[in-house]
Amino acid sequence: MHMMARPYSIDSCGGFLLGIVIIILVLWAIVADDVRNRVSFWTRSSSKFPDFSHYENFTHTLSNEQFPTYDKDRRIIVIGDLHGMNASLTTLLNRISYDARRDILIHLGDLATKAPVEDSLAVLSFMESNKILGVRGNNDQEVLEWRAWMDWIVSQPGGRKWLRHVDKHWSDYEPASEKGDISAFNPWRPLMKKPDWGDKVPKGWRPLGDHYQVARAMSRSQYEYLRSLPLVLYAPAGHVFFVHAGLLAADPRRRSTHHKQPLSHWPSIQQRKHDIPAIRKAQELALLSEIPQNQDPWTVQNIRSVLKNGKLTPSSHKGTPFSDLWNEIMGRCSGFHDSNAQFDSVTRLTGYQESQLVHLPCYPSTVVYGHAAGRGLDVKRWSVGLDTGCSYGRRLTALVLGARSFSSGVPDDHSLDFLPEETNRLDAGPFFTGAGEYHEFDSLSDATNHRIKFDHAGEARIFSVKCH
Ligand SMILES: *[C@@H]1O[C@H](CO)[C@@H](O)[C@H](O)[C@H]1NC(C)=O
Ligand SMILES: *[C@@H]1O[C@H](CO)[C@@H](O)[C@H](O)[C@H]1NC(C)=O
Repeated sequence: MHMMARPYSIDSCGGFLLGIVIIILVLWAIVADDVRNRVSFWTRSSSKFPDFSHYENFTHTLSNEQFPTYDKDRRIIVIGDLHGMNASLTTLLNRISYDARRDILIHLGDLATKAPVEDSLAVLSFMESNKILGVRGNNDQEVLEWRAWMDWIVSQPGGRKWLRHVDKHWSDYEPASEKGDISAFNPWRPLMKKPDWGDKVPKGWRPLGDHYQVARAMSRSQYEYLRSLPLVLYAPAGHVFFVHAGLLAADPRRRSTHHKQPLSHWPSIQQRKHDIPAIRKAQELALLSEIPQNQDPWTVQNIRSVLKNGKLTPSSHKGTPFSDLWNEIMGRCSGFHDSNAQFDSVTRLTGYQESQLVHLPCYPSTVVYGHAAGRGLDVKRWSVGLDTGCSYGRRLTALVLGARSFSSGVPDDHSLDFLPEETNRLDAGPFFTGAGEYHEFDSLSDATNHRIKFDHAGEARIFSVKCH
């Protein structure tokens, strides 16, 4: 018994020590791993970022079901920049008796930011859960890119922990970030001497701001929704383009009759020579694919004006509004005449002097956009600017299209008339007098319900509500 007890106690003591050693080793491993993660998280060279922009869905072409131009019981409702104005969205939809089962809703982007995060999320949630069609605005783009960055950070060793740390110490750093000084932001100061957002954030990005906060707070499905939004929605049935900021009808660095301009010649489609809709569609698609600037995401998400030298600018004070150039070109479209009935590319209008060619062999199409709150409601013959500055306490505006909006609309349909009674009596009659003429619509900033010309011989309505 005695002899047995000793080894037993040695064993027990050894086991105890072993246990302690194991615990120490385990603890050390955890700490070391943590330190290593933190070090590697901050020291790994990350000059190469993955692509956060997700521009893969550039253009989406709307089917006839998504853009019903013949059905007099269905409307297409287009809404300008929302910026989290959840209550105004509800007010506007109620005012035009939006019926989700029949009406097609299309938004023009900038759903979030410039509002409390929960309001941005409410608008995102509405759009996402109802699978609303729309385009991605420049602010949505920033939100999306921050979220893609967060996903990437989380995939890095130690990244998930670091991001949680940032969340926890958020309030300590908000004042600094509001001043734009993020160098002060260092949630791991005790461990690391010089941690730096600079290595981990692409140049020019500002962490912790409005976009960052919405990106951090939004659900995965809201993120997926933003990612699914194209930059351009194209509706061949109505000859309409929907973009957030703008689109060009011609490359402004060239004459509008230059053979590289898609509207200077008939598209070279070999078959279906007498199928005007097919030719129009080919030419409209060429606007997107053959004007180099229209292939640049920056253009469709940010442009407001075109400078004299042909460069594009987000400024609304310099240069010519892009919509003026659009209307200038579209106003010269004179259709495809029989005299031009040879479709071979040799009959393209190359070599013509500008003066000889006032008219262009095309049919006009319409661009509907937001983004330019500074210009307010901006209705021209072939363009409609719908950002009326709701987030600045001005108005939220909708363009309402029905079967009567499109050239071939059924004459006796009343698709635009099933709007609330009191909103029907305002205004009547066309506001322009002939093809190519249009009025600037600045005086309509207080408008609540107006008719406008749309497409070739159609009419549309504009509704707006006051934002608070
Ligand atoms: C957004 O609007 C909807 C509909 O009016 C409402 O149910 C919801 O509570 C609003 N959300 C927020 C965050 O205000
Ligand atoms: C592209 O955009 C359309 C229209 O919003 C959407 O239905 C579609 O799912 C998107 N595609 C992808 C790959 O996200």
